[in-house]
Amino acid sequence: MAERRHVLIIGPQGSGKGTQAARVAPALGLVHVAMGDLFRSLMQHDTPLAREVRSYYDRGALVPDELTLRVLLAHLDELAERDGAYQGTLLDGFPRTRAQAEALDRVLAERHEQIAAVVELAVPRTVLIERLSGRLICPQCGAVYHRVFAPPQVPGRCDRCGGELIQRSDDTPEAIARRLDLYEEQTAPLLEYYRQRGLLLTVNGDQPIEQVTHELIAALRPRLEDSHGNHAEITS
Ligand code: AP5
Ligand code: MG
Repeated sequence: MAERRHVLIIGPQGSGKGTQAARVAPALGLVHVAMGDLFRSLMQHDTPLAREVRSYYDRGALVPDELTLRVLLAHLDELAERDGAYQGTLLDGFPRTRAQAEALDRVLAERHEQIAAVVELAVPRTVLIERLSGRLICPQCGAVYHRVFAPPQVPGRCDRCGGELIQRSDDTPEAIARRLDLYEEQTAPLLEYYRQRGLLLTVNGDQPIEQVTHELIAALRPRLEDSHGNHAEITS
């Protein structure tokens, strides 16, 4: 079996990580794993773990690294159990801190798996706020919409599963501001961490959704082909 390769998608809140990962992952033969979706599905049940996650999530704070890693690894193990032949993940929302990036390196090394590329979605802050304030999500299947930029066919209903669309509990002005600040402080420095290893690609996320998808696939496909097929050196 070919060695698993993972792609990380990094960008500020509202840059379109979830929107794009859902479109790009199937085109590249990867499984979309979204850290935020894992937490949202966990919070649908009232357990002590869910209450702990909610105490961070709702105010736009980061969930502690150790807990985040635990939730991620449990999900990766579940994926491997369900389909031992899956080729890799498109990781959306992990890592977000230096400690998480280092933990990911350790875990992948233990599993003999690799990072094929890291892609940054760049979008200016004013655009992000406009996107987040109009976002709607489907709590049943996780699909993402926007009141103006990506409206559902029937207002308030998910195109994919018919679920009732809601606003996310962390899409309040206070939580949005905190999340964007945290991105600058904790996550943006990771770009340099990956740039130095020749893994970083940047795509302009301030374009129509289709165009961003097209550019992401064009940028990532050669990286995955190199690492799956020829084992070529990855250079930036
Ligand atoms: P998470 O769910 O990952 O949220 P986030 O990082 O805040 O990012 P978003 O999901 O808000 O933005 P996105 O880039 O996915 O944008 P989207 O595609 O939806 O994490 C939530 C919380 O979980 C964190 O705050 C934290 O508490 C916790 N957490 C998660 N990971 C963690 C970790 N590793 N460590 C610790 N805690 C963690 O698009 C946004 C909107 O814009 C949508 O309405 C969409 O329709 C629209 N849109 C998208 N693209 C375009 C476009 N090109 N043009 C116009 N509109 C567009
Ligand atoms: Mg998202």
